[in-house]
Amino acid sequence: RGADGRDHVDLRLQTGTTEFLRGKQTRTWGVNGSYLGPTIRVRKGQHVSIHVTNDLPESSSLHWHGMRLPAVMDGGPYQEIEPGETWNPHWEVKQPAATLWYHPHPHGRTAEHVYRGVSGMLLVDDDISDALELPDDYGVDDIPLIIQDKAFTDDGQLDFNGRGMGPGSTGILGDTVLVNGTHDPHLEVTRTVTRLRVLNGSPARIYDLGFDDDRPFAVIASDSGLLPAPVERTRLRLSPGERVELLVTMEPGETSILRSHPTDLGGGFPADRFAGADDTLDILQLRAKTTLEPNPAAPRTLSAEEPLTAPADARVRRFELSGTAFINGESMDMGRIDEVVAAGATEIWEVRGAGLPHNFHIHDVAFRILTIDGREPPAWQAGRKDTVFIPAGSTVRLVVRFGTDVDPATPYMYHCHLLYHEDSGMMGQFVIV
Ligand code: C2O
Ligand code: CU
Ligand code: CU
Repeated sequence: RGADGRDHVDLRLQTGTTEFLRGKQTRTWGVNGSYLGPTIRVRKGQHVSIHVTNDLPESSSLHWHGMRLPAVMDGGPYQEIEPGETWNPHWEVKQPAATLWYHPHPHGRTAEHVYRGVSGMLLVDDDISDALELPDDYGVDDIPLIIQDKAFTDDGQLDFNGRGMGPGSTGILGDTVLVNGTHDPHLEVTRTVTRLRVLNGSPARIYDLGFDDDRPFAVIASDSGLLPAPVERTRLRLSPGERVELLVTMEPGETSILRSHPTDLGGGFPADRFAGADDTLDILQLRAKTTLEPNPAAPRTLSAEEPLTAPADARVRRFELSGTAFINGESMDMGRIDEVVAAGATEIWEVRGAGLPHNFHIHDVAFRILTIDGREPPAWQAGRKDTVFIPAGSTVRLVVRFGTDVDPATPYMYHCHLLYHEDSGMMGQFVIV
């Protein structure tokens, strides 16, 4: 805690090398290290101050994905940090407990910077999450899982072409999965219930997550916070940028593999295949000890927050994502403000994805999915979110509550979080007035 009463965090974006594959040194980027960055933990009501120093060879930025904060603190393309410079964003945390993340957002180069390794977890705690009997021993029964797929060249360097790159594609796909930067990982499970905070930190890969033995798990949180109650699932699909928190129960001595299964992305053949829909990827092996310490099962209720609803006269805005670079027929232009939103407004945003699978992320807000193709979303997707998967050809309706930090001069972004699409221009800008 600094003299000004704020809590300081020092982050340094830096280059390095990492041995992902035995005997091969991969050139990587990271935060306070050679790959990925530290988990940052903040509390609702806290004044946070972060110093981000850029020791990379080119300008970059650090965006607090899922955080409600003034646009000048957002870390998007308007807050790029030149090499050797330090940027000092600070804000008050005004949102409930959630699993957020941070990543670079330089204009047109987000995919490359994330792929090289600049990302980390950003956890928010509050009194409600503290009071719940959830596993919360970080690294013991509360485990962050940053899932990323990589393609490597023969000499062990990151391959930026990867499989799947090219016109009409969703972006780089790799056939090697890393979890928290580790290839072929396992987790020693020491308690009966383990909480997994899962982030899809990949540029393009859409995972259909489930265990090899189809064991059920309880979903307790989505992107922006706890669900009203746990939802039992055996599978769920997570697109880039989305997070879920899961509780997995194990018996002593058991093993189970968290895996991504073949899935339907709505694009049919061959678009789905090019987007990786046919792939099976092992992500993490859970190995339970022969004796497990008991910890409580999932509480029956989690968040008591009222679900977001829209007034009858809510403004409706429509967005069509098309090709790899367009929203409503236009590509991102930093000189053009696309949407002007009244401070604190609740609106309906209707987003249609044409052709390819896409997703949609809005800065500064949490939203609730009203419908996907006219139907209510499954319960695990009905909570607070900031990123939504849009199968090819589908339409999602969102109720969105905007923030109150007025700044007509500094926009926030909304975009497809398939990073190749984002970088190609599938992004727009809104200001709060
Ligand atoms: Cu993950 Cu524009 O952000
Ligand atoms: Cu964001
Ligand atoms: Cu897209």
